[in-house]
Amino acid sequence: MEISHLTALVTGGASGLGLAVTENLIKKGAQVLVLDLPKPESEDKIKQLGEKAAFFGGDVTQSEDIQNAIQLAQQKYGGIHAAINCAGIVYGAKTVSRGEPCPLDIFNKTLQVNLVGTFNVCRLAAAAMAKQEPNANGERGVLINTSSIAAYDGQMGQTAYSASKGGIVALTLPMARDLASLGIRVMSIAPGIFHTPMMDSLPEAAQKSLAEQVPFPKRLGQPEEFAQLALHIIENPMLNGEVIRLDGALRMGSK
Ligand SMILES: NC(=O)c1ccc[n+]([C@@H]2O[C@H](COP(=O)([O-])OP(=O)(O)OC[C@H]3O[C@@H](n4cnc5c(N)ncnc54)[C@H](O)[C@@H]3O)[C@@H](O)[C@H]2O)c1
Repeated sequence: MEISHLTALVTGGASGLGLAVTENLIKKGAQVLVLDLPKPESEDKIKQLGEKAAFFGGDVTQSEDIQNAIQLAQQKYGGIHAAINCAGIVYGAKTVSRGEPCPLDIFNKTLQVNLVGTFNVCRLAAAAMAKQEPNANGERGVLINTSSIAAYDGQMGQTAYSASKGGIVALTLPMARDLASLGIRVMSIAPGIFHTPMMDSLPEAAQKSLAEQVPFPKRLGQPEEFAQLALHIIENPMLNGEVIRLDGALRMGSK
């Protein structure tokens, strides 16, 4: 799909990887509806991007918030052609720690936001895309989900996060098959370690140690590099039903 003039919904679009996608889409002429948790500083950040960016304060676990965000995109910009799921959370907790079982609400919450939230956005965005006219190549839209390399080599303490991201890997192909006849593609990106506010929540020593484990380039990824891939996926019609690792060949150890 050609990026100029399309409208994208970007969840988690006010920070980190999602913000980079939002900014790069706008630079290329797209219109972006950001769905992120309602925080004044997030809204201000998106307002500064100009007329082609709009903010909807909501939660990806709430169907009504997603529907309202999609409706706003349709009213303001006339449709929805891409949905990029970047909203996500990370909690570290071992299955049993100091004799105590992992609190189940940590596992549930991570699954709800990262996996169920992603599916919720996909199903509602795809239903809206299905009602639109296809472009000259028969395309009605593209869905891009953010998994993680933790889906493949999760570390100690990552059961919830890895399970949520593994679920995104697993749903990519069946969802692409479900939506093929509608002209809607589905792709996922499994990032390695990127320099974002989420990563900044780790102690500096841990960030340094993770960066040193990356074979090449030996550094954290830049959100801009994630955005480059997301935009390429939108543009390249043969990319469908696949998960792309974006990790500098990193394979994480057990801790
Ligand atoms: N940074 C990394 O190294 C890395 C690696 C692999 C995967 N990821 C994944 O990439 C995605 C983006 O991560 P990031 O590093 O940019 O993090 P981030 O914390 O900078 O951004 C995440 C955004 O999601 C929003 N969000 C959280 N819960 C939400 C909810 N329920 N509804 C709506 N919005 C919500 C937050 O407000 C925030 O703006 C996440 O899914 C994360 O798991 C990140």
